Amino acid sequence: MAVLVTGGAGYVGSHTCLELLNAGYEIVVVDNLCNSSSESLRRVNEVTGKDFKFYQIDLLDRQSLEEVFNQNKIEAVVHFAGLKAVGESVRLPLRYYHNNITGTLVLCELMQEYAVKRMIFSSSATVYGMSESVPISEKSPLGATNAYGRTKLIIEEIMQDVYVSDPNWSIAILRYFNPIGAHSSGRLGEDPNGIPNNLMPFITQVAVGGVKELQIYGNDYPTLDGTGVRDYIHVEDLARGHLKALEKVMATTGVEAYNLGTGRGYSVIEMVSAFERVTGRRIPYKMTDRRPGDIGICYSDPTKAERELGWIAEKGIEEMCRDAWRWQSNNPCGYIEEEEVLRTT
Ligand code: NAD
Ligand code: WQD
Repeated sequence: MAVLVTGGAGYVGSHTCLELLNAGYEIVVVDNLCNSSSESLRRVNEVTGKDFKFYQIDLLDRQSLEEVFNQNKIEAVVHFAGLKAVGESVRLPLRYYHNNITGTLVLCELMQEYAVKRMIFSSSATVYGMSESVPISEKSPLGATNAYGRTKLIIEEIMQDVYVSDPNWSIAILRYFNPIGAHSSGRLGEDPNGIPNNLMPFITQVAVGGVKELQIYGNDYPTLDGTGVRDYIHVEDLARGHLKALEKVMATTGVEAYNLGTGRGYSVIEMVSAFERVTGRRIPYKMTDRRPGDIGICYSDPTKAERELGWIAEKGIEEMCRDAWRWQSNNPCGYIEEEEVLRTT
């Protein structure tokens, strides 16, 4: 019996594959590599010493995906596959709706057909929209401010409907806050395409010399130093959260949403200072205007996950910065080897 991991070559997926293998699960990975490289999976194998099957398949390709269900005895699905760039989703909403929603529909149809009714879905704190009241609990109002966020909200609603139609389903919706950091081995990490959008990959790019300075988007928010506050969570803690959720969906039926965050917010300036303290690198920055669509403060109430999944984030901000830096400094070009980059430029 195996766990099917969609999007397993990506940032959160690869760290979760590693934890699943270390915990003794058999896994089957499906990814079309549209935002990742198979090198991440090669390294999962290297770090764990465990083999697993990988299919380079698009979730939209029903026939190929059906082969995966035919060839393997799948007992549960951890569903990471999706596009996730907020700005791009505003420019290309149809691509996001098609990839994220249709991809999930094809997957769920096959799950239904093959009687695989246990699922963990990667949702996001973005489903809380412009919520200004913190901490954010699962009962906080939901809303989307961009097409990406709307795909998550719509999929969450689809999950609810699937369960209502057939109460044998067991679904955990995991709402991630801000995942950062990397595996402590320094072999796995976040490898964004081009210039990063998110704060931590941007900081590490500045530290490694790829980008000159950090732009801080706004210092007039109602926070301790005026810069935006977020609930950063170590990707290894996040990956462990999936194992806890998997135990839960294997043991029960139902559909439940859980916040995965630390419950503690840090400002952009606090993040820069922590990174400088831990790594000894200076991060030059300049203050710029607010980024359109950003909110001032966002952090979780993670007590439901603690109560119902027995999960709590363990790693602090210093470990997040140290591991992000270890990954970036060991792999300045991400999963592409430096020599390969030099050869092609
Ligand atoms: P990622 O881009 O690194 O991983 C997603 C993976 O899905 C990639 O490997 C990509 O190639 C694959 N994929 C995309 N569309 C596919 C398709 N149609 N068929 C097959 N494979 C496909 O992203 P991540 O940061 O690892 O995020 C994983 C999930 O968590 C996503 O659903 C994302 O929306 C969600 N999430 C991420 C964050 C974050 O900040 N990283 C926060 C909240 C939620
Ligand atoms: C964090 C803070 C920025 C970059 C996004 C998505 C969300 C989720 C996680 C998937 C904010 C500030 C950032 C920079 C900066 N993804 N910042 N300079 O916006 O909380 O969430 O990623 O579900 O949907 O919206 O994360 O890392 O982009 O920003 O000052 O160059 O850092 O303004 O306060 P965000 P982030």
